[in-house]
Amino acid sequence: MQEILKQLAEKRAAARAGGGQRRVDAQHAKGRLTARERIELLLDPDSFEEWDMFVEHRSSEFGMQDQKVPGDGVVTGYGTVNGRLVFVFSQDFTVFGGSLSEAHAEKICKVMDQAMKVGAPVIGINDSGGARIQEGVASLAGYAEVFQRNIMASGVVPQISLVMGPCAGGAVYSPAMTDFIFMVKDSSYMFVTGPDVVKTVTHETVTHEQLGGALTHSSKSGVADLAFENDVEALLQLRRFIDLIPASNRETAPQRQTPDSIDRDEFSLDTLVPDNPNKPYDMHELIAKVVDEGDFFEVQPNFAGNIIIGLARMGGDTVGIVANQPMVLAGCLDIDSSRKAARFVRFCDCFNIPIVTFVDVPGFLPGTAQEYGAIIKHGAKLLFAYGEATVPKVTVITRKAYGGAYDVMSSKHIRGDVNFAWPSAEIAVMGPKGAVEIIFRADIGDKQAIADRTEEYRQKFANPFVAGARGFIDDVILPHSTRKRICRSLAMLRDKKLENPWKKHDNIPL
Ligand code: HXC
Repeated sequence: MQEILKQLAEKRAAARAGGGQRRVDAQHAKGRLTARERIELLLDPDSFEEWDMFVEHRSSEFGMQDQKVPGDGVVTGYGTVNGRLVFVFSQDFTVFGGSLSEAHAEKICKVMDQAMKVGAPVIGINDSGGARIQEGVASLAGYAEVFQRNIMASGVVPQISLVMGPCAGGAVYSPAMTDFIFMVKDSSYMFVTGPDVVKTVTHETVTHEQLGGALTHSSKSGVADLAFENDVEALLQLRRFIDLIPASNRETAPQRQTPDSIDRDEFSLDTLVPDNPNKPYDMHELIAKVVDEGDFFEVQPNFAGNIIIGLARMGGDTVGIVANQPMVLAGCLDIDSSRKAARFVRFCDCFNIPIVTFVDVPGFLPGTAQEYGAIIKHGAKLLFAYGEATVPKVTVITRKAYGGAYDVMSSKHIRGDVNFAWPSAEIAVMGPKGAVEIIFRADIGDKQAIADRTEEYRQKFANPFVAGARGFIDDVILPHSTRKRICRSLAMLRDKKLENPWKKHDNIPL
Protein backbone atom coordinates (compact mmCIF):
# COMPACT_ATOMS: atom_id res chain seq x y z
CA MET A 1 0.00 0.00 0.00
CA GLN A 2 2.77 2.38 0.94
CA GLU A 3 4.39 1.62 -2.40
CA ILE A 4 1.18 2.42 -4.31
CA LEU A 5 0.77 5.68 -2.43
CA LYS A 6 4.34 6.57 -3.25
CA GLN A 7 3.74 5.78 -6.92
CA LEU A 8 0.54 7.82 -6.86
CA ALA A 9 2.38 10.80 -5.44
CA GLU A 10 5.14 10.42 -8.02
CA LYS A 11 2.71 10.15 -10.91
CA ARG A 12 0.76 13.16 -9.74
CA ALA A 13 3.94 15.14 -9.35
CA ALA A 14 5.06 14.09 -12.84
CA ALA A 15 1.71 15.11 -14.35
CA ARG A 16 1.79 18.45 -12.55
CA ALA A 17 5.32 19.10 -13.73
CA GLY A 18 4.17 18.88 -17.36
CA GLY A 19 7.09 19.12 -19.76
CA GLY A 20 9.48 20.22 -17.00
CA GLN A 21 10.72 23.49 -15.57
CA ARG A 22 12.71 24.49 -18.67
CA ARG A 23 9.62 24.34 -20.86
CA VAL A 24 7.44 25.98 -18.20
CA ASP A 25 9.94 28.84 -18.05
CA ALA A 26 9.85 29.11 -21.84
CA GLN A 27 6.04 29.29 -21.72
CA HIS A 28 6.20 32.06 -19.11
CA ALA A 29 8.86 33.87 -21.12
CA LYS A 30 6.35 34.10 -23.98
CA GLY A 31 3.93 35.84 -21.60
CA ARG A 32 1.72 32.74 -21.45
CA LEU A 33 0.45 30.85 -18.44
CA THR A 34 0.65 27.08 -18.22
CA ALA A 35 -2.38 24.85 -18.75
CA ARG A 36 -2.86 24.37 -15.01
CA GLU A 37 -2.36 28.02 -14.12
CA ARG A 38 -5.09 28.87 -16.62
CA ILE A 39 -7.53 26.41 -15.07
CA GLU A 40 -6.73 27.76 -11.64
CA LEU A 41 -7.62 31.30 -12.70
CA LEU A 42 -10.73 30.25 -14.57
CA LEU A 43 -12.34 28.11 -11.90
CA ASP A 44 -13.41 28.86 -8.33
CA PRO A 45 -10.65 28.14 -5.82
CA ASP A 46 -10.32 24.45 -4.98
CA SER A 47 -13.20 23.45 -7.26
CA PHE A 48 -11.22 21.64 -9.96
CA GLU A 49 -11.74 17.89 -10.17
CA GLU A 50 -9.14 16.55 -12.54
CA TRP A 51 -9.66 13.44 -14.65
CA ASP A 52 -7.25 11.25 -16.56
CA MET A 53 -4.08 12.53 -14.97
CA PHE A 54 -2.45 9.16 -15.61
CA VAL A 55 -3.36 8.81 -19.27
CA GLU A 56 -0.33 8.29 -21.50
CA HIS A 57 0.02 8.05 -25.24
CA ARG A 58 0.36 4.61 -26.83
CA SER A 59 2.78 5.55 -29.57
CA SER A 60 6.06 3.72 -30.06
CA GLU A 61 7.30 5.40 -33.23
CA PHE A 62 10.34 7.69 -33.29
CA GLY A 63 11.39 6.77 -29.76
CA MET A 64 8.07 7.86 -28.28
CA GLN A 65 7.91 4.77 -26.05
CA ASP A 66 10.62 6.40 -23.93
CA GLN A 67 8.93 9.80 -23.78
CA LYS A 68 5.78 9.66 -21.73
CA VAL A 69 4.33 12.40 -19.57
CA PRO A 70 1.27 11.49 -17.46
CA GLY A 71 -1.70 13.45 -18.77
CA ASP A 72 -0.28 13.52 -22.31
CA GLY A 73 -0.42 17.24 -22.95
CA VAL A 74 -3.93 18.15 -21.91
CA VAL A 75 -5.43 18.81 -18.47
CA THR A 76 -9.11 17.88 -18.27
CA GLY A 77 -11.91 17.79 -15.73
CA TYR A 78 -14.64 19.94 -14.26
CA GLY A 79 -15.12 22.62 -11.66
CA THR A 80 -17.24 25.66 -10.96
CA VAL A 81 -17.34 29.30 -12.02
CA ASN A 82 -19.11 31.35 -9.36
CA GLY A 83 -20.61 28.11 -8.12
CA ARG A 84 -21.86 26.87 -11.53
CA LEU A 85 -20.58 23.67 -13.11
CA VAL A 86 -18.35 23.82 -16.20
CA PHE A 87 -16.20 21.24 -17.95
CA VAL A 88 -12.78 22.22 -19.13
CA PHE A 89 -9.83 21.00 -21.15
CA SER A 90 -6.59 22.91 -21.28
CA GLN A 91 -3.83 21.95 -23.69
CA ASP A 92 -0.36 21.92 -22.17
CA PHE A 93 2.17 23.34 -24.61
CA THR A 94 5.02 22.17 -22.40
CA VAL A 95 4.22 18.54 -23.23
CA PHE A 96 4.99 17.71 -26.87
CA GLY A 97 3.95 21.24 -27.76
CA GLY A 98 0.38 20.50 -26.62
CA SER A 99 0.08 18.35 -29.74
CA LEU A 100 -2.97 16.15 -30.03
CA SER A 101 -2.41 12.40 -29.77
CA GLU A 102 -5.06 9.71 -29.84
CA ALA A 103 -5.01 9.56 -26.02
CA HIS A 104 -5.07 13.38 -25.71
CA ALA A 105 -8.18 13.45 -27.94
CA GLU A 106 -9.84 10.72 -25.88
CA LYS A 107 -9.43 12.84 -22.77
CA ILE A 108 -11.10 15.83 -24.44
CA CYS A 109 -13.91 13.62 -25.75
CA LYS A 110 -14.54 12.21 -22.29
CA VAL A 111 -15.23 15.62 -20.74
CA MET A 112 -17.33 16.68 -23.72
CA ASP A 113 -19.46 13.53 -23.42
CA GLN A 114 -19.96 14.08 -19.72
CA ALA A 115 -20.85 17.74 -20.22
CA MET A 116 -23.54 16.68 -22.68
CA LYS A 117 -24.96 14.14 -20.24
CA VAL A 118 -25.24 16.53 -17.33
CA GLY A 119 -25.88 19.71 -19.31
CA ALA A 120 -22.98 22.05 -18.58
CA PRO A 121 -20.75 24.31 -20.72
CA VAL A 122 -17.47 23.09 -22.20
CA ILE A 123 -14.54 25.47 -22.09
CA GLY A 124 -11.61 24.53 -24.29
CA ILE A 125 -8.24 26.21 -23.85
CA ASN A 126 -6.25 25.75 -27.04
CA ASP A 127 -2.47 25.95 -27.04
CA SER A 128 -1.14 23.31 -29.38
CA GLY A 129 1.26 22.53 -32.19
CA GLY A 130 -1.54 20.54 -33.85
CA ALA A 131 -1.63 16.88 -34.76
CA ARG A 132 0.98 14.79 -32.86
CA ILE A 133 3.26 14.25 -35.80
CA GLN A 134 4.60 10.92 -34.50
CA GLU A 135 1.08 9.45 -34.45
CA GLY A 136 -0.06 10.24 -37.97
CA VAL A 137 -3.62 9.29 -38.84
CA ALA A 138 -4.41 8.24 -35.25
CA SER A 139 -4.10 11.90 -34.35
CA LEU A 140 -6.25 13.00 -37.27
CA ALA A 141 -8.89 10.51 -36.15
CA GLY A 142 -8.70 12.04 -32.67
CA TYR A 143 -9.38 15.49 -34.11
CA ALA A 144 -12.37 14.18 -36.01
CA GLU A 145 -13.77 12.62 -32.84
CA VAL A 146 -13.54 16.02 -31.16
CA PHE A 147 -15.11 17.74 -34.20
CA GLN A 148 -18.04 15.33 -34.16
CA ARG A 149 -18.66 16.11 -30.52
CA ASN A 150 -18.45 19.85 -31.19
CA ILE A 151 -21.19 19.36 -33.76
CA MET A 152 -23.40 17.25 -31.51
CA ALA A 153 -22.95 19.63 -28.57
CA SER A 154 -23.80 22.69 -30.69
CA GLY A 155 -27.04 24.14 -29.38
CA VAL A 156 -27.11 21.66 -26.48
CA VAL A 157 -24.43 23.05 -24.16
CA PRO A 158 -22.54 26.31 -24.62
CA GLN A 159 -19.02 25.76 -25.97
CA ILE A 160 -16.40 28.45 -25.56
CA SER A 161 -12.85 28.39 -26.89
CA LEU A 162 -9.96 30.30 -25.47
CA VAL A 163 -7.19 30.31 -28.03
CA MET A 164 -4.07 31.09 -26.04
CA GLY A 165 -1.24 29.86 -28.23
CA PRO A 166 -0.84 28.23 -31.62
CA CYS A 167 -3.92 26.74 -33.28
CA ALA A 168 -3.25 25.89 -36.89
CA GLY A 169 -4.29 23.66 -39.77
CA GLY A 170 -7.37 21.53 -39.34
CA ALA A 171 -7.13 22.07 -35.58
CA VAL A 172 -8.83 25.45 -36.05
CA TYR A 173 -12.08 23.74 -36.88
CA SER A 174 -12.83 22.69 -33.34
CA PRO A 175 -12.83 26.27 -31.97
CA ALA A 176 -14.53 27.41 -35.18
CA MET A 177 -17.55 25.27 -34.37
CA THR A 178 -17.85 26.47 -30.78
CA ASP A 179 -20.13 29.35 -29.81
CA PHE A 180 -17.47 31.91 -28.93
CA ILE A 181 -13.74 32.31 -29.44
CA PHE A 182 -11.65 34.48 -27.14
CA MET A 183 -8.03 35.18 -28.15
CA VAL A 184 -5.00 36.84 -26.58
CA LYS A 185 -3.09 39.61 -28.38
CA ASP A 186 0.46 38.88 -29.53
CA SER A 187 0.43 35.35 -28.15
CA SER A 188 -2.22 33.35 -29.96
CA TYR A 189 -2.90 32.70 -33.60
CA MET A 190 -5.26 30.70 -35.76
CA PHE A 191 -4.84 29.93 -39.44
CA VAL A 192 -5.52 27.12 -41.85
CA THR A 193 -2.09 27.50 -43.48
CA GLY A 194 0.82 29.37 -41.90
CA PRO A 195 2.99 32.22 -43.19
CA ASP A 196 5.51 29.89 -44.89
CA VAL A 197 2.90 28.14 -47.00
CA VAL A 198 1.24 31.46 -47.77
CA LYS A 199 4.59 32.81 -49.01
CA THR A 200 5.13 29.81 -51.27
CA VAL A 201 1.63 29.76 -52.73
CA THR A 202 0.60 33.41 -52.98
CA HIS A 203 3.98 35.15 -52.54
CA GLU A 204 2.52 37.25 -49.72
CA THR A 205 4.77 38.03 -46.76
CA VAL A 206 2.88 38.09 -43.48
CA THR A 207 3.72 37.47 -39.85
CA HIS A 208 1.85 34.97 -37.69
CA GLU A 209 0.15 37.90 -35.95
CA GLN A 210 -0.88 39.59 -39.18
CA LEU A 211 -2.19 36.38 -40.68
CA GLY A 212 -4.06 34.96 -37.74
CA GLY A 213 -3.47 36.92 -34.55
CA ALA A 214 -6.10 38.10 -32.10
CA LEU A 215 -6.43 41.55 -33.68
CA THR A 216 -6.78 40.10 -37.16
CA HIS A 217 -9.53 37.72 -36.15
CA SER A 218 -11.38 40.12 -33.89
CA SER A 219 -11.38 42.99 -36.39
CA LYS A 220 -10.86 41.67 -39.94
CA SER A 221 -12.22 38.13 -40.23
CA GLY A 222 -14.71 38.05 -37.36
CA VAL A 223 -13.50 34.55 -36.46
CA ALA A 224 -12.73 35.64 -32.88
CA ASP A 225 -15.25 37.35 -30.65
CA LEU A 226 -12.84 39.17 -28.38
CA ALA A 227 -9.12 39.94 -28.16
CA PHE A 228 -7.56 40.39 -24.72
CA GLU A 229 -4.28 41.86 -23.57
CA ASN A 230 -3.12 38.75 -21.72
CA ASP A 231 -4.17 35.34 -20.41
CA VAL A 232 -5.31 36.71 -17.04
CA GLU A 233 -7.68 39.25 -18.56
CA ALA A 234 -9.14 36.66 -20.94
CA LEU A 235 -9.79 34.16 -18.17
CA LEU A 236 -11.35 36.69 -15.81
CA GLN A 237 -13.60 38.07 -18.53
CA LEU A 238 -14.65 34.55 -19.41
CA ARG A 239 -15.77 34.06 -15.81
CA ARG A 240 -17.92 37.18 -16.20
CA PHE A 241 -19.32 35.87 -19.48
CA ILE A 242 -20.23 32.47 -18.02
CA ASP A 243 -22.33 34.21 -15.38
CA LEU A 244 -24.55 35.47 -18.19
CA ILE A 245 -25.28 32.22 -20.00
CA PRO A 246 -27.36 29.15 -19.15
CA ALA A 247 -25.77 25.77 -18.47
CA SER A 248 -27.58 24.12 -21.37
CA ASN A 249 -30.50 24.37 -23.78
CA ARG A 250 -32.75 22.95 -21.07
CA GLU A 251 -32.17 25.86 -18.72
CA THR A 252 -32.34 29.61 -18.58
CA ALA A 253 -29.48 31.86 -17.56
CA PRO A 254 -29.24 32.46 -13.83
CA GLN A 255 -31.22 35.39 -12.49
CA ARG A 256 -29.35 38.01 -10.52
CA GLN A 257 -30.88 40.43 -8.08
CA THR A 258 -30.25 44.00 -9.11
CA PRO A 259 -30.64 47.25 -7.21
CA ASP A 260 -31.49 48.86 -10.57
CA SER A 261 -35.27 49.42 -10.60
CA ILE A 262 -37.08 48.21 -13.71
CA ASP A 263 -39.11 51.43 -13.49
CA ARG A 264 -36.05 53.65 -13.82
CA ASP A 265 -36.71 56.53 -16.22
CA GLU A 266 -33.76 57.80 -18.22
CA PHE A 267 -34.62 61.32 -19.33
CA SER A 268 -31.39 61.89 -21.22
CA LEU A 269 -32.70 59.42 -23.82
CA ASP A 270 -35.36 61.94 -24.83
CA THR A 271 -32.65 63.95 -26.57
CA LEU A 272 -30.46 61.10 -27.81
CA VAL A 273 -31.73 61.14 -31.38
CA PRO A 274 -30.60 64.36 -33.15
CA ASP A 275 -33.16 66.47 -35.02
CA ASN A 276 -31.17 66.07 -38.20
CA PRO A 277 -31.95 62.54 -39.47
CA ASN A 278 -28.52 62.32 -41.10
CA LYS A 279 -26.66 62.98 -37.88
CA PRO A 280 -25.39 59.91 -36.07
CA TYR A 281 -25.58 59.17 -32.35
CA ASP A 282 -24.02 56.43 -30.31
CA MET A 283 -26.30 53.43 -29.86
CA HIS A 284 -24.00 52.25 -27.05
CA GLU A 285 -25.41 55.10 -24.98
CA LEU A 286 -28.95 53.78 -25.32
CA ILE A 287 -27.84 50.24 -24.43
CA ALA A 288 -25.88 51.39 -21.38
CA LYS A 289 -28.82 53.44 -20.17
CA VAL A 290 -31.47 50.74 -20.39
CA VAL A 291 -29.72 47.57 -19.19
CA ASP A 292 -29.23 46.68 -15.52
CA GLU A 293 -26.55 48.88 -13.95
CA GLY A 294 -25.25 49.85 -17.38
CA ASP A 295 -23.44 46.52 -17.56
CA PHE A 296 -23.14 45.32 -21.15
CA PHE A 297 -20.87 42.44 -22.23
CA GLU A 298 -20.27 43.28 -25.87
CA VAL A 299 -18.91 40.66 -28.22
CA GLN A 300 -17.18 41.37 -31.53
CA PRO A 301 -16.91 45.10 -30.72
CA ASN A 302 -14.21 45.63 -33.34
CA PHE A 303 -15.79 43.69 -36.20
CA ALA A 304 -18.71 45.00 -38.27
CA GLY A 305 -19.23 47.93 -35.93
CA ASN A 306 -22.42 48.88 -37.80
CA ILE A 307 -24.18 46.32 -35.65
CA ILE A 308 -23.72 45.87 -31.91
CA ILE A 309 -24.24 42.52 -30.20
CA GLY A 310 -23.75 41.32 -26.65
CA LEU A 311 -25.30 40.12 -23.42
CA ALA A 312 -26.70 42.14 -20.55
CA ARG A 313 -29.37 41.77 -17.91
CA MET A 314 -32.72 43.46 -17.70
CA GLY A 315 -34.72 43.08 -14.51
CA GLY A 316 -32.11 40.54 -13.43
CA ASP A 317 -32.52 38.22 -16.45
CA THR A 318 -30.00 37.78 -19.25
CA VAL A 319 -30.95 39.27 -22.61
CA GLY A 320 -29.16 39.29 -25.94
CA ILE A 321 -28.87 42.79 -27.39
CA VAL A 322 -28.74 43.42 -31.13
CA ALA A 323 -28.57 47.04 -32.23
CA ASN A 324 -27.80 48.96 -35.40
CA GLN A 325 -25.06 51.52 -34.80
CA PRO A 326 -25.64 54.81 -36.68
CA MET A 327 -22.02 55.84 -35.95
CA VAL A 328 -20.65 53.21 -38.36
CA LEU A 329 -21.77 53.10 -42.01
CA ALA A 330 -24.92 54.91 -40.83
CA GLY A 331 -25.98 51.62 -39.24
CA CYS A 332 -26.75 49.91 -42.53
CA LEU A 333 -26.73 46.14 -42.87
CA ASP A 334 -23.94 44.57 -44.91
CA ILE A 335 -22.37 41.14 -45.26
CA ASP A 336 -20.30 41.23 -42.09
CA SER A 337 -22.95 42.76 -39.84
CA SER A 338 -25.59 40.33 -41.09
CA ARG A 339 -23.35 37.31 -40.42
CA LYS A 340 -22.31 38.67 -37.05
CA ALA A 341 -25.84 39.32 -35.83
CA ALA A 342 -27.35 36.18 -37.35
CA ARG A 343 -25.01 33.86 -35.50
CA PHE A 344 -25.63 35.74 -32.27
CA VAL A 345 -29.42 35.61 -32.66
CA ARG A 346 -29.14 31.86 -33.21
CA PHE A 347 -26.95 31.48 -30.10
CA CYS A 348 -29.58 33.32 -28.04
CA ASP A 349 -32.37 31.21 -29.47
CA CYS A 350 -30.48 27.93 -28.80
CA PHE A 351 -30.00 28.87 -25.18
CA ASN A 352 -33.33 30.46 -24.24
CA ILE A 353 -32.00 34.01 -24.09
CA PRO A 354 -34.62 36.67 -25.00
CA ILE A 355 -33.54 39.09 -27.71
CA VAL A 356 -33.88 42.86 -27.44
CA THR A 357 -33.34 44.66 -30.73
CA PHE A 358 -32.74 48.39 -31.20
CA VAL A 359 -33.35 49.50 -34.75
CA ASP A 360 -31.96 52.46 -36.65
CA VAL A 361 -31.26 51.08 -40.09
CA PRO A 362 -31.29 52.97 -43.40
CA GLY A 363 -31.18 49.73 -45.43
CA PHE A 364 -28.56 47.47 -46.96
CA LEU A 365 -25.14 48.73 -48.05
CA PRO A 366 -25.08 49.15 -51.85
CA GLY A 367 -22.18 48.19 -54.11
CA THR A 368 -20.59 45.50 -56.22
CA ALA A 369 -18.43 44.31 -53.33
CA GLN A 370 -21.58 43.55 -51.40
CA GLU A 371 -23.49 41.97 -54.26
CA TYR A 372 -20.55 39.87 -55.47
CA GLY A 373 -19.89 38.87 -51.89
CA ALA A 374 -23.44 37.47 -51.66
CA ILE A 375 -25.16 40.03 -49.46
CA ILE A 376 -28.37 38.38 -50.65
CA LYS A 377 -27.49 35.15 -48.85
CA HIS A 378 -25.82 36.81 -45.87
CA GLY A 379 -28.67 39.25 -45.28
CA ALA A 380 -31.04 36.31 -45.53
CA LYS A 381 -29.17 34.66 -42.66
CA LEU A 382 -30.20 37.42 -40.30
CA LEU A 383 -33.78 37.41 -41.56
CA PHE A 384 -33.89 33.63 -41.19
CA ALA A 385 -32.32 33.68 -37.73
CA TYR A 386 -34.83 36.21 -36.39
CA GLY A 387 -37.76 34.51 -38.09
CA GLU A 388 -37.01 31.04 -36.75
CA ALA A 389 -36.21 32.24 -33.22
CA THR A 390 -38.86 31.26 -30.69
CA VAL A 391 -37.42 33.09 -27.66
CA PRO A 392 -39.11 36.33 -26.53
CA LYS A 393 -38.30 39.15 -28.96
CA VAL A 394 -38.73 42.81 -28.06
CA THR A 395 -37.90 45.47 -30.63
CA VAL A 396 -37.53 49.23 -30.30
CA ILE A 397 -37.25 51.37 -33.43
CA THR A 398 -35.45 54.55 -32.46
CA ARG A 399 -35.21 56.23 -35.84
CA LYS A 400 -34.89 54.74 -39.32
CA ALA A 401 -36.43 51.41 -40.25
CA TYR A 402 -36.33 51.47 -44.00
CA GLY A 403 -37.09 48.89 -46.64
CA GLY A 404 -36.18 45.23 -46.34
CA ALA A 405 -33.99 46.01 -43.37
CA TYR A 406 -37.14 47.02 -41.46
CA ASP A 407 -38.56 43.55 -42.03
CA VAL A 408 -35.27 41.86 -41.11
CA MET A 409 -34.66 43.64 -37.80
CA SER A 410 -37.06 41.60 -35.67
CA SER A 411 -40.19 43.19 -37.12
CA LYS A 412 -43.70 42.17 -36.09
CA HIS A 413 -44.03 40.19 -39.31
CA ILE A 414 -41.27 37.76 -38.39
CA ARG A 415 -42.79 37.07 -35.01
CA GLY A 416 -41.51 40.01 -33.00
CA ASP A 417 -43.50 39.73 -29.77
CA VAL A 418 -43.50 43.36 -28.70
CA ASN A 419 -42.53 46.08 -31.15
CA PHE A 420 -42.15 49.63 -29.93
CA ALA A 421 -41.20 52.81 -31.74
CA TRP A 422 -39.88 56.08 -30.40
CA PRO A 423 -41.67 59.23 -31.65
CA SER A 424 -38.58 59.87 -33.83
CA ALA A 425 -39.12 56.59 -35.72
CA GLU A 426 -39.38 56.68 -39.50
CA ILE A 427 -40.81 53.41 -40.78
CA ALA A 428 -40.99 53.48 -44.55
CA VAL A 429 -39.79 51.91 -47.77
CA MET A 430 -36.97 54.44 -47.91
CA GLY A 431 -35.96 57.92 -46.74
CA PRO A 432 -38.04 60.92 -47.94
CA LYS A 433 -35.41 62.28 -50.35
CA GLY A 434 -34.83 58.98 -52.13
CA ALA A 435 -38.54 58.26 -52.29
CA VAL A 436 -39.43 61.63 -53.85
CA GLU A 437 -36.62 61.41 -56.40
CA ILE A 438 -38.17 58.18 -57.65
CA ILE A 439 -41.88 58.84 -57.56
CA PHE A 440 -41.59 62.46 -58.73
CA ARG A 441 -38.73 61.99 -61.17
CA ALA A 442 -40.41 64.34 -63.67
CA ASP A 443 -40.10 67.23 -61.19
CA ILE A 444 -36.43 66.64 -60.48
CA GLY A 445 -35.33 69.98 -62.01
CA ASP A 446 -37.84 71.92 -59.92
CA LYS A 447 -36.12 72.39 -56.57
CA GLN A 448 -39.14 73.92 -54.86
CA ALA A 449 -41.48 71.17 -56.03
CA ILE A 450 -39.05 68.49 -54.85
CA ALA A 451 -38.65 70.23 -51.49
CA ASP A 452 -42.43 70.42 -51.09
CA ARG A 453 -42.91 66.80 -52.06
CA THR A 454 -40.14 65.71 -49.71
CA GLU A 455 -41.78 67.54 -46.83
CA GLU A 456 -45.13 66.03 -47.76
CA TYR A 457 -43.61 62.53 -47.81
CA ARG A 458 -41.89 63.18 -44.50
CA GLN A 459 -45.16 64.27 -42.90
CA LYS A 460 -47.03 61.28 -44.30
CA PHE A 461 -44.59 58.43 -43.93
CA ALA A 462 -41.50 59.40 -41.91
CA ASN A 463 -43.16 58.68 -38.61
CA PRO A 464 -44.26 55.70 -36.53
CA PHE A 465 -48.00 56.18 -37.03
CA VAL A 466 -48.52 54.51 -40.39
CA ALA A 467 -47.06 51.30 -38.95
CA GLY A 468 -48.90 51.94 -35.69
CA ALA A 469 -52.24 52.25 -37.51
CA ARG A 470 -51.80 48.71 -38.78
CA GLY A 471 -50.69 47.28 -35.45
CA PHE A 472 -47.18 46.62 -36.73
CA ILE A 473 -46.01 48.74 -33.81
CA ASP A 474 -47.61 47.91 -30.47
CA ASP A 475 -47.00 51.35 -29.02
CA VAL A 476 -45.12 54.58 -29.55
CA ILE A 477 -43.15 55.04 -26.35
CA LEU A 478 -41.32 57.94 -24.81
CA PRO A 479 -37.57 57.31 -24.96
CA HIS A 480 -37.13 57.88 -21.22
CA SER A 481 -39.50 54.99 -20.47
CA THR A 482 -37.67 52.48 -22.68
CA ARG A 483 -36.18 50.41 -19.86
CA LYS A 484 -39.49 50.12 -18.07
CA ARG A 485 -41.40 49.16 -21.20
CA ILE A 486 -38.88 46.52 -22.24
CA CYS A 487 -38.67 45.02 -18.74
CA ARG A 488 -42.45 44.78 -18.50
CA SER A 489 -42.62 43.15 -21.93
CA LEU A 490 -39.96 40.61 -20.98
CA ALA A 491 -41.79 39.81 -17.75
CA MET A 492 -45.00 39.29 -19.71
CA LEU A 493 -43.14 37.00 -22.13
CA ARG A 494 -41.39 34.92 -19.47
CA ASP A 495 -43.59 31.87 -20.08
CA LYS A 496 -43.85 32.31 -23.83
CA LYS A 497 -44.35 29.05 -25.69
CA LEU A 498 -43.85 28.86 -29.41
CA GLU A 499 -42.80 25.85 -31.43
CA ASN A 500 -41.65 25.66 -35.00
CA PRO A 501 -43.08 22.87 -37.19
CA TRP A 502 -41.33 19.51 -36.93
CA LYS A 503 -38.36 19.20 -39.25
CA LYS A 504 -35.09 17.31 -39.26
CA HIS A 505 -33.36 20.67 -39.31
CA ASP A 506 -33.81 23.84 -41.28
CA ASN A 507 -31.78 24.89 -44.28
CA ILE A 508 -30.57 28.36 -43.34
CA PRO A 509 -28.93 30.10 -46.32
CA LEU A 510 -25.24 29.47 -45.62
C1 HXC B 1 4.72 16.62 -31.91
C2 HXC B 1 5.36 18.77 -31.48
C3 HXC B 1 4.42 19.27 -32.40
C4 HXC B 1 3.60 18.33 -33.09
C5 HXC B 1 5.46 20.94 -31.56
N1 HXC B 1 5.99 19.84 -30.98
N2 HXC B 1 4.51 20.61 -32.43
N3 HXC B 1 5.49 17.45 -31.24
N4 HXC B 1 3.77 17.03 -32.81
N5 HXC B 1 2.68 18.74 -33.96
C6 HXC B 1 7.02 19.80 -29.96
C7 HXC B 1 8.37 20.19 -30.48
O1 HXC B 1 9.03 19.07 -31.00
C8 HXC B 1 9.04 20.70 -29.21
O2 HXC B 1 9.46 19.60 -28.47
C9 HXC B 1 7.89 21.33 -28.46
O3 HXC B 1 6.71 20.76 -29.00
C10 HXC B 1 7.83 22.82 -28.63
O4 HXC B 1 7.92 23.12 -30.00
P1 HXC B 1 8.88 24.26 -30.53
O5 HXC B 1 8.91 24.13 -32.01
O6 HXC B 1 10.18 24.23 -29.79
O7 HXC B 1 8.10 25.55 -30.08
P2 HXC B 1 7.93 26.93 -30.82
O8 HXC B 1 9.23 27.41 -31.33
O9 HXC B 1 7.19 27.80 -29.88
O10 HXC B 1 7.00 26.62 -32.09
C11 HXC B 1 5.67 26.20 -31.95
C12 HXC B 1 5.12 25.70 -33.29
C13 HXC B 1 6.07 24.62 -33.86
C14 HXC B 1 5.00 26.87 -34.23
C15 HXC B 1 3.72 25.16 -33.00
O11 HXC B 1 6.33 23.65 -32.84
C16 HXC B 1 5.50 23.92 -35.03
O12 HXC B 1 5.50 24.43 -36.14
N6 HXC B 1 5.02 22.68 -34.82
C17 HXC B 1 4.52 21.87 -35.84
C18 HXC B 1 3.19 22.35 -36.28
C19 HXC B 1 2.59 21.42 -37.28
O13 HXC B 1 3.00 21.36 -38.42
N7 HXC B 1 1.65 20.58 -36.80
C20 HXC B 1 0.95 19.67 -37.59
C21 HXC B 1 0.00 20.50 -38.39
S1 HXC B 1 -1.18 19.58 -39.23
P3 HXC B 1 10.68 19.70 -27.43
O14 HXC B 1 10.87 18.31 -26.97
O15 HXC B 1 11.83 20.26 -28.18
O16 HXC B 1 10.21 20.62 -26.34
C22 HXC B 1 -2.38 19.51 -38.13
C23 HXC B 1 -3.52 18.89 -38.70
C24 HXC B 1 -4.65 18.81 -37.78
O17 HXC B 1 -2.30 19.89 -37.05
C25 HXC B 1 -5.69 18.15 -38.58
C26 HXC B 1 -7.00 18.11 -37.93
C27 HXC B 1 -7.97 17.59 -38.89
